[in-house]
Amino acid sequence: MNQGSSLHGEFSSISPAEFFYRNRQMAGFGNPSQAVYSTVRELVENSIDACEEARRQPDVRVSIDEERSGIVRIMVSDNGTGVPYGEVPNAFARVLYGDKFTARQRRGTFGLGVTMAVLYGQITTDSPVIVLTQTSHTTGRSYQLLIDIKNNQPVILSDESHEREGPGTEVTIRLKGDLNRSRNRVYDYLQLTTVASPHANMELVINGSSVMRMGRWHQMLPAPTLASKPHPHGADLELLRRLVADTGERSLHDFLVESFQRMGTRTATRFLKFLSINPRQVVNTLSRGDLSRLSSALRSYDGLGRPDGKCLSPIGKDAFLTSVESVFAPSALTYGSRGPTEWSGNAFIVEGVAAIGTGARAADVPTLYRFANRVPLLYDSGEDVLTRMLKKVNWVKYGVGSTTPVSIFLHLCSTRIPFKAAGKQSIASLPEIEHEALSLLRELGRNLKKTLKGDERSVRDAQKKREFDKAMKQVAQFSAELAECDAIPSTAELVHRLFEVGYHV
Ligand SMILES: Nc1ncnc2c1ncn2[C@@H]1O[C@H](COP(=O)(O)OP(=O)(O)O)[C@@H](O)[C@H]1O
Ligand SMILES: [Mg+2]
Repeated sequence: MNQGSSLHGEFSSISPAEFFYRNRQMAGFGNPSQAVYSTVRELVENSIDACEEARRQPDVRVSIDEERSGIVRIMVSDNGTGVPYGEVPNAFARVLYGDKFTARQRRGTFGLGVTMAVLYGQITTDSPVIVLTQTSHTTGRSYQLLIDIKNNQPVILSDESHEREGPGTEVTIRLKGDLNRSRNRVYDYLQLTTVASPHANMELVINGSSVMRMGRWHQMLPAPTLASKPHPHGADLELLRRLVADTGERSLHDFLVESFQRMGTRTATRFLKFLSINPRQVVNTLSRGDLSRLSSALRSYDGLGRPDGKCLSPIGKDAFLTSVESVFAPSALTYGSRGPTEWSGNAFIVEGVAAIGTGARAADVPTLYRFANRVPLLYDSGEDVLTRMLKKVNWVKYGVGSTTPVSIFLHLCSTRIPFKAAGKQSIASLPEIEHEALSLLRELGRNLKKTLKGDERSVRDAQKKREFDKAMKQVAQFSAELAECDAIPSTAELVHRLFEVGYHV
């Protein structure tokens, strides 16, 4: 910690843990009701990320107990990768520490999530976080950890072996929280999590009673995302300096080809010719001025391909339609998608489902459900770029009005989501995202119009499908009971396939 004095008083720097402790509302921990929701959200995000990393269908269980008025205990368990022992103290009790800093789509972003919940729990109840974890190579272990806030270092209170049935992690945090006021949000969050991650199974237990168990609407695990090299359009001066420092003695031409995506030998030669820089110049002899010129040229150069979409994991047409259908039982629905394209070198895709008759109220503007990297966003919707674009569309033109209840589910996935604050609730308005979101909404609008224009047959089919769906669910439930089997098999996909023709628009 640097300290000094001046005419105006003492200067000092604070640790990241202390910064977030002082500014906790910025990270979504501003009041006891939001704190419950944010803790569940951070733990669930990590759990599903860890299951996808392990290539397993996520089974995530969220248990919330009100220990006494205003104090709740939140426990989330998963069947993911587990955390290697050496990493547990830093991963859970050191702010801004994580393994998700590569350029690929993940739910977690900058190593703040779980530690912020641990920090909040510690400040409000003076309790440690309890982590039970096991990887596929190790036996189970249990930790109790606190954060040394001033120095942003983990404090290990206990560290012992602990039996577990298999790989996975269970994290328990005690905190000051308002369960009554957050209960519905938590429910909605988990339900919508199954829409955005249709392969995941979510269970919610409150004060010992099972409140919900749903998901696995779609059996397919999302294809693994690959970390990609940075796109030249994202080459700001800081990134360029770091890449140069890592490269050492290389020609500028080779440096560009090796460090960036979409920079083949021919593109690099063309680009350097356009800039009139000698391609054989050794990269770490470039001056500050040269690097600055190179950075602005890279960021604005037109002759480059779009960023690699392999680092992205959209929900996809089949899975997205199936999950919306399973959760909301609409009478008709349609899917659309735009991209991959980029904002400042970060690849992104916007995809969406528009659905009629989901139980939402009819209004001039459809009801919007927002998702970012498969995480539902439930707060600060008014500030969000997706909400702004939704309001910009003239829905009356597409026949949406006071008599037709329409819901729109929009998912933005990107190697970096431009969140407005560390609480990760609303997405900033960037022109590239505005443009793609607006085009997608209009496409969904046009499709809706076709449906609404109305062939009665599709309405009749939808009605039939709903009845069939209900009956099949009952059959599945009775069969599960007869077979004394806990898990009720999902029938959504079967019904979906039977009615595929003429149902989706
Ligand atoms: N349930 C879990 N399973 C496996 N690893 C986890 C789990 N929870 C947290 N971690 C590890 O802890 C790190 C820190 O988590 P977090 O503070 O939420 O940051 P982020 O998710 O942004 O990386 C993660 O990057 C991950 O490596
Ligand atoms: Mg996280």
